This record gives sequence, structure tokens and C-alpha cells, in this order.
Amino acid sequence: MSATIEPIPRTGPRPDETRSLPEIGGIEISGVDLSENLSRERKDWLMRTFRAHPVIVFRDQHLSKERQYEFTLTFGEIEGLHVNRLVDAVKYTPVHTVSNIGSDGKPSAPTRERGNYYWHSDKSYHDVPSLLTMLHGVEIPSRGGETQFANTAMAYAALDEATKQRISGLRAVHSWERSRIQARGLLATEEQKRERPPVDHPIARTHPDTGAKVLYLGNHASHVLGWPEEEGRALLRWLEAFATQPAFVYSHRWRPGDLVLWDNRCTIHRALPHEDMDKERRVLHRTVVKGTVPY
Ligand code: OGA
Ligand code: MN
Repeated sequence: MSATIEPIPRTGPRPDETRSLPEIGGIEISGVDLSENLSRERKDWLMRTFRAHPVIVFRDQHLSKERQYEFTLTFGEIEGLHVNRLVDAVKYTPVHTVSNIGSDGKPSAPTRERGNYYWHSDKSYHDVPSLLTMLHGVEIPSRGGETQFANTAMAYAALDEATKQRISGLRAVHSWERSRIQARGLLATEEQKRERPPVDHPIARTHPDTGAKVLYLGNHASHVLGWPEEEGRALLRWLEAFATQPAFVYSHRWRPGDLVLWDNRCTIHRALPHEDMDKERRVLHRTVVKGTVPY
């Protein structure tokens, strides 16, 4: 994974409108307007940028939900319904809202929906997990509420050889039921457990675009296939702690208008709580692109 920034074609921003996010090999871009239809050339530039930088922060965007939907389609097929719909019965739209606003319309601290506050890769408990997630900042609290990212290709590369050998060929069981237990929030319903039975994926997966080995884990990962559960859990938590050392983590401080997209195949992320959650609103629009079976 390259941390250098490639020259940007004239259709992209000027070099002084980009900044690298070195902890995760990411890039911050201002000076492009994504509300307009993208030319072929700019789409190609975007795809190359995404391949080289698994987290992209676009500043100062103001996309309608419809436009965010269209823009997301640049990267592939948009994901369907989340298993959680069965709990909150929120009507599905492909551009949904991540927020701390309750059904009474008021902000609150999360007591039930806590999964986003633990390191994870989106929908890793699916047999075909997510490729990319995009969040667009709409209402941003004044203090806290960052989203943190860790690049698990960089983490894998930094592992010692003995650990690389040890995890080679191992598979982790990813489970919605277990994820809910580990997030200490609402438990999975029987219906959800039937719909999303545990799946297993390689712990060291190969990124299909770059060919790099990456750690594939997080809070949806429960244990190691074929190992005693506690032993596997300990290995997964150790690897996660290794991958999320402060030096490897970028914390995104949101501004209204930010559009942040990330590659779920080689990053893990989590939200940090914000201050005065029962007073301050945090609202983001979210879209997810479907990926492929990890190998
Ligand atoms: C997500 C997520 C984190 C945040 O939308 O997948 O994990 O900071 N969000 O809201
Ligand atoms: Mn997430």
C-alpha cells in the first residue's frame, strides 16, 4: 500500500488541496465538488486514489441523499438491508442515517446501539462483507465524536515473522450474535441469529486489488475456527490491539460537509462518543458498497 500521493490529473484538485494522513496511508482532499457528475477521467482518478489510499476525506461537500447514492454507485453495488432493521424497524433507504437521535427526535447517549464504538470492519459477519462505507457529515457535535481508522495492511506488514507464520491459514469466526454480546448492548434476536448465522474468514486476508496481506478482524470476530474459544479470542484481541496502537490510528475530527469513505477490506474503524450526547446532535448520512468473499 503506497503512502505517496500520485500526481493528480487536471480534473482533480491542485496538489496544495491535498494532505496525506500518514498513520493510515489516507488522503484528505479539498477543492473538488462531488455534487457534479464525474467525468470518465475523474472517475478513473478517483478509483486509483481509492486503491492507493484506503481512507479518503473530502472536505466541503454538500450532497443530497440522491447525489450521495449516485456517487456511491461509482464504486459498485450498494448494500441492501442491515440485519438490525428488525430491531429498530426504521424504514430502509439505501442512504441511511447514523445518529444519536432517538425515536422521540431527541439526542441521547447510546445504551443499546453500541457496536460502532468498538473497532470493526463493516458487515464482516456477512459471507460477502462490505467493500466500502461512506459517511457524510450533516450535524456535528462541538466536542468529540471522532471516527478512528486503523490500516490493517500496515499492521500486518509490521507484525513479526513468527506471528505472520502463526496466523497463516487461520480463520476467524465472525458472528452478529457474538458481536452484540461483545458490544455490551442490545442482544441479537432469534430472527437475526437465523438470518445471520456465524461465518468464517481468513485472519490474514489478501486485498483483491493490491494483493497485500491484511488483518481482517474487529468486534464482529468472535474466535478462531477449530480452536478453544478463549484462546482464539485472546489471539484476536491481541492482534486488534496491535493494529490499533495510537501510532497507527487516524482520528477524523468531523466538520459539517465532510465526506469520508474507507476500504473495509484493509481498515477497521470505530466511533468515539461525543460530549453531552444527551444534548448535542450527531447526524451522518451513510452508504455501503458490497464487496466480495474474502480469501
Ligand atoms: C459506520 C460506523 C462510525 C461513526 O457507519 O459504519 O461505524 O463514527 N460509524 O459514526
Ligand atoms: Mn462501521
